[in-house]
Amino acid sequence: MLACLSCQQHTRTIMTVSIDCLGIGLRTPHYKDLLEKRPHLSLIEFHSENHFYSNGHSRTILHKAKEIAPISLHGVGLSLGSADGLDNSHLKKLVNLVDDINPSLISEHISWGRIGNIHTHDLLPLPYCKDVIQLVADNIDHVQQALGREIIVENVSSYVSFEQSNMKEWDFVYEILEKADCGFLLDINNVFVNSQNFNFNIEDYLKSLPWDRVKEVHVAGHQAEENLLVDTHDRPACSEVKSWLDKVYSQCINKPPVLLEWDSSLPSFEKLIAHMHDLATEPGIENYALA
Ligand SMILES: [Fe+2]
Repeated sequence: MLACLSCQQHTRTIMTVSIDCLGIGLRTPHYKDLLEKRPHLSLIEFHSENHFYSNGHSRTILHKAKEIAPISLHGVGLSLGSADGLDNSHLKKLVNLVDDINPSLISEHISWGRIGNIHTHDLLPLPYCKDVIQLVADNIDHVQQALGREIIVENVSSYVSFEQSNMKEWDFVYEILEKADCGFLLDINNVFVNSQNFNFNIEDYLKSLPWDRVKEVHVAGHQAEENLLVDTHDRPACSEVKSWLDKVYSQCINKPPVLLEWDSSLPSFEKLIAHMHDLATEPGIENYALA
C-alpha cells in the first residue's frame, strides 16, 4: 500500500497488488499438494456444492485447508436470478456447510440456472432491468437471512443480450448491491470479456462501482472463439486483464484478496502458484518458477 503524496489532506491510499493479497481457487487434483506444500495464500476458494455432504474427505479437506489460510465458499448453484425463488433444500445444505466451516467469505453469482426442478448447471446471464434487480435483491436477502451474515455476489461473463434490458450492466450490478446491501466479488476477467463481447468501455463500468463493497477480486483466463471471448478458466490471465487488475486494485478500499481461478486444463500446483505470483505488482519472497 502506498500513501498518496500529492495532497496532505488527501487520506486515500493507493493499493498495489502485493503477494500477500493473492489466493487461488482450489480444485480436487491439487488438494494433496496444498496440504503438503502449504504455500502462503491470502484466500483459498472452494466450490460450496462439492462440500455439501457432511461426512468424509471433502469436509476434512476444508478443515485442514483452514489451518493454512482463510477459506471462501464459492457457490455456483444457488441461482440468485431464479424467478421461482430459491431452492430451499440447496440453501439448507449451504447453511449446514457454513455453520460447520465458518468461512471468511461466502460468494455466489448474479445469474440464474434453474427453473423449477431443472438445473442447467450453468451461470446464465440476466436481463438488465428494474424487475430483475428487485428479484435478485430479494433472493440475496433471503440467503443472508438464512445464513445470518453477508454474502458477496459476482458479476458474470455473458454472450447474449436481452430485448428486455433497458440499462447498462454496471448500473444493474450497482443497484443490486445497494438494494440487497451485500458485498461485491468483482471478476475483472468477466468485465473484460463482456467489454469485448458487447463493445463497452471498461472505464464506464468501473467509475460507478461501490468500491467499499468490493470484498474479493477474481482474475482468470479466457479464449477467443470466432467473434466472442469465452470465459474458459483454462489458462493464465492475459496481459490486458493483468493491467486492469492493477488499475482496479488502486481503487479498492478494503485491500480485498485477489484470487486466480483455474478450472480446466489445470497446470501443476507449482505452476498455478507461480501464475498467481505473476499477478503481484510488488515482488514477494516466495518464488515458484513459471518456466
Ligand atoms: Fe469469477
